[in-house]
Amino acid sequence: MQHFLTTAVPYLRRYKRGLAMGLGALVLKDVAGASIPLVIKAAIDTVTSDAPLTVLYWFCGLMLAIAAFKAFFQYWMRVILVGISRDVEFDIRNDLFRQFTRLDAGFYAGHRTGDLMARSTNDLNAVRMMLGPALMYLTETSLTFVLALGIMFSVDWQLTLWALSPAPLVTLVVIFFGQRIHARFQKIQELFSDISSRVQENLSGVRVVRAYAQEEAELEQFAKLNERFIHQNLRLARLSGLFMPLLQALIGMTFLLVLIVGGFRLLDGQITLGSFVMFNTYMGILVWPMIAFGWVVNLMQRGSASLKRIRAVLDEEPSIRAPRQPEAMPRDATIGLHGVRMGWNGFNALAGVDLTIPEGATVAVVGRTGSGKSTLVQLIPRLFDPVEGEVRVGGIDVRSFDPAELRKVIGFIPQETFLFSATLAENIAFGVQNATEEQVRAAAEMAGLDCDIEDFPLGYRTMVGERGITLSGGQKQRTAIARAILRDPRVLILDDALSAVDTITEERILGRLREFMRGRTTVLISHRVSTVRGADRIYVLDHGRVVEQGRHEELITRGGYYADLHQKQLLEEELESI
Ligand SMILES: Nc1ncnc2c1ncn2[C@@H]1O[C@H](COP(=O)(O)OP(=O)(O)OP(=O)(O)O)[C@@H](O)[C@H]1O
Ligand SMILES: [Mg+2]
Repeated sequence: MQHFLTTAVPYLRRYKRGLAMGLGALVLKDVAGASIPLVIKAAIDTVTSDAPLTVLYWFCGLMLAIAAFKAFFQYWMRVILVGISRDVEFDIRNDLFRQFTRLDAGFYAGHRTGDLMARSTNDLNAVRMMLGPALMYLTETSLTFVLALGIMFSVDWQLTLWALSPAPLVTLVVIFFGQRIHARFQKIQELFSDISSRVQENLSGVRVVRAYAQEEAELEQFAKLNERFIHQNLRLARLSGLFMPLLQALIGMTFLLVLIVGGFRLLDGQITLGSFVMFNTYMGILVWPMIAFGWVVNLMQRGSASLKRIRAVLDEEPSIRAPRQPEAMPRDATIGLHGVRMGWNGFNALAGVDLTIPEGATVAVVGRTGSGKSTLVQLIPRLFDPVEGEVRVGGIDVRSFDPAELRKVIGFIPQETFLFSATLAENIAFGVQNATEEQVRAAAEMAGLDCDIEDFPLGYRTMVGERGITLSGGQKQRTAIARAILRDPRVLILDDALSAVDTITEERILGRLREFMRGRTTVLISHRVSTVRGADRIYVLDHGRVVEQGRHEELITRGGYYADLHQKQLLEEELESI
């Protein structure tokens, strides 16, 4: 309920006018519907007195007119109110997606994609059902109840009380079952998330599953999950299967009471035949609301469970946000790390790092796997913030900038390339509006991708399968490089972005990049000495600390990790050339 007020009401408020019109139609429709038994009563009472039979035609005509009136407003009630629920669904879906784009790495580390997908599909639908049909029927049936009962009371209050006597029992049944149905539904929704996650992971990891011949194992696991899902669904079905007949039995009892008690009162002459028929007609009208009520309660409970799950996502605050008054990006793009510590769960990936990347320089970072290189460079575009210390650009803490502005000047090529299922050209132009074909071509050329593209029959219009599944590892990497180049960044960060190309291609690309990067700042991460030897400065990381720094020649003469690496790679090259 609280979620309804804080989350759903603000959305509904945007459609005040529509809601007012829908409600207007609802009231008119309900009033018309409730007046029909009154006409029947009048007709019967008139006919049973000695009025001429032709009066019947008039009553029939009147009833037809009322029915048409009712149908007209019922139509508009549905169109308007269900339409608004679609509008709200649209708004929430947009807000959810906006939130997904706002949230940072920390959030995604803690949530599975499938679960988030479930929230934006299944849960959203449950919320729509609540805000549309459920709320509409609830209002409609409540009003019908009030109107019908009001008229019934005024005609014969004693008979009405008899008719109402099973009502407390109905309420108890609805509450009892409602709570249990709600709990089971929530469990089902969670299981659905699990299933979605499983499917999503298997689809994106389909190659790994195949390569490890894990189809059977995955199938088995999925079958288990699916079975639990079905099991929970059957439990829910059993419960609602019990609920409905029980409700109907209670309603049948009400009919019985009206028939017996009303019959006696008719024979005693306490009510007219018209009133007796009217009561039965009202009971007929009230059956649907009574059944719908259970269904509506059910929908409301599902909806609020789902609303809670959606609300939880909407309430997440990204930890990386723009400050209230962001600093302008400085002209000087010197990057400095000052006493930076970064880690997760007590483990330090970076344990106090100080380093400077002067404007326009090419700086390389090497070090064994897991030494913290990727962690280090991700701090520069503020993909996450350090636990301790500061990262500065132009002498200013990066937390003082608007992250979007900061990221605009940085071309970041992550260690794991991500391509979208779009054309090569679209992938390269990602993040740059109105990129011309020439610009895309030039960027591809700079990244050494042009030769490959020439071999593709569709050239730049080649569709890249989901995540670039149709490209080779090296082609993917170079697409990512071209993407970063096209942004025309002042700072270019390559996180092992040449690892999948051979040394000859690498040399060619580096040669072109050197030209492109004149006057810009470059950070190169690599495991290869050949990639980094030309850098202005090389930092060697080990266990999250800078252990060596200097130019290639200086580090060679120092005889540390770098010299060792150099030695090994020289040896490898010699062996290869034999
Ligand atoms: N999001 C994360 N949560 C927890 N630990 C992490 C996270 N990212 C990195 N680490 C840990 O931090 C350490 C440094 O990781 P990092 O990716 O910086 O290494 P790297 O030097 O880039 O290695 P490689 O050469 O293999 O790419 C690793 O031990 C890794 O397990
Ligand atoms: Mg790395």
